Amino acid sequence: MGRANRVVLAYSGGVDTSVCIPYLKQEWGVQEVITLAANLGQGEELEPIREKALKSGAAKSLVADVTEEFVKHYAFPAIQANALYENRYPLSTALARPLIAKLLVDAAAEYGADAVAHGCTGKGNDQVRFDVAIAALNPNLKVLAPAREWGMSREETIAYGERFGIASPVKKASPYSIDRNLLGRSIEAGSLEDPWVEPPEEIYAMTKAIGDTPNEPEYIEIGFEQGIPTHLNGQSLHPIDLITQLNQVVGTHGVGRIDMVENRLVGIKSREIYEVPALLVLIQAHRELESLTLTADVAHYKRGMEDTYSQLVYNGLWYSPLKAALDAFIHQTQERVSGTVRIKLFKGNAVMVGRQSSNSLYSPDLATYGADDQFDHKAAEGFIYVWGLPTRVWSQRNKG
Ligand code: ARG
Repeated sequence: MGRANRVVLAYSGGVDTSVCIPYLKQEWGVQEVITLAANLGQGEELEPIREKALKSGAAKSLVADVTEEFVKHYAFPAIQANALYENRYPLSTALARPLIAKLLVDAAAEYGADAVAHGCTGKGNDQVRFDVAIAALNPNLKVLAPAREWGMSREETIAYGERFGIASPVKKASPYSIDRNLLGRSIEAGSLEDPWVEPPEEIYAMTKAIGDTPNEPEYIEIGFEQGIPTHLNGQSLHPIDLITQLNQVVGTHGVGRIDMVENRLVGIKSREIYEVPALLVLIQAHRELESLTLTADVAHYKRGMEDTYSQLVYNGLWYSPLKAALDAFIHQTQERVSGTVRIKLFKGNAVMVGRQSSNSLYSPDLATYGADDQFDHKAAEGFIYVWGLPTRVWSQRNKG
């Protein structure tokens, strides 16, 4: 008896997930492996990946085109939440995991599988995200993670695959581990493992080096409706097109690179490089529009929620009750976050230079230092007396 009869495996076409196919069958006695590849806008041909799974021994090879769902239901809510893990990483990889988990759970039900599987190792965040999301969606479904147990080195994994006719990767020399989708690229390993070493230019694919960016600034305008980006330069765009075009224009100016040492949930610090041009600028622009349309107390309170939200997503708790509660809060705050933000892109910088909204709470009559000032200056004195009273009393008691 094997560990399962029929398994749905999350499949990327890479070495690890390909080797999982023969490994599950040979070592763990699985009868049938059904692979599932998700199109998340990574810009890869899915047909060769679909065929590679069959060549590697899959009984069935599924491809799910979920780019639109990914953008609308995972990326856009994260933008509304201004989600940045450790104040920097916009969760481009983390956001894809709960969606892939949902696809696995649905496919397992459709094809009568008694387990699902993924190719994550035991050191990363992604294993946590898959396992917890799957448990949330179907607590009775078994999750198999061969790469967490097989103990093979990179070389051994490739050699194992070759025994079963799995072609080793084209660029055997590439030492990097790269995850990619429409939102961005996450790059780790190789020379990047030394946090003192500057990332070599070759690792980047979506953003230009500052030396190669245009010598003239470029202005763009992003329009939002209730916290959702809808327009680029006045033109209404489909969510996928909006992200695609924005990645292009923002990346051209060298904006969107992140080089950070981050704290993984499993306790390890890791050096990670991200390229997230559109996502990063969208969060900045969204925040900018919120500064115009949210009251001070909501804006300040939301900052704390955003931090909690980012940690939940990073730590694999997308389908958790606290996350659902935060979603409700954030959704409520977005009702009037509509308008346009103007951004100047130049030499690696995205500077927010203008913002406007028909829901703007900015009042020129109150803000102006000019003649038409409507603010009651005399009222300030009484306000300050009351505001400062506790401090005054405290001082009198302690400084006597
Ligand atoms: N550290 C990031 C995260 O946990 C990205 C990991 C992606 N994997 C990779 N092969 N670079 O979300």
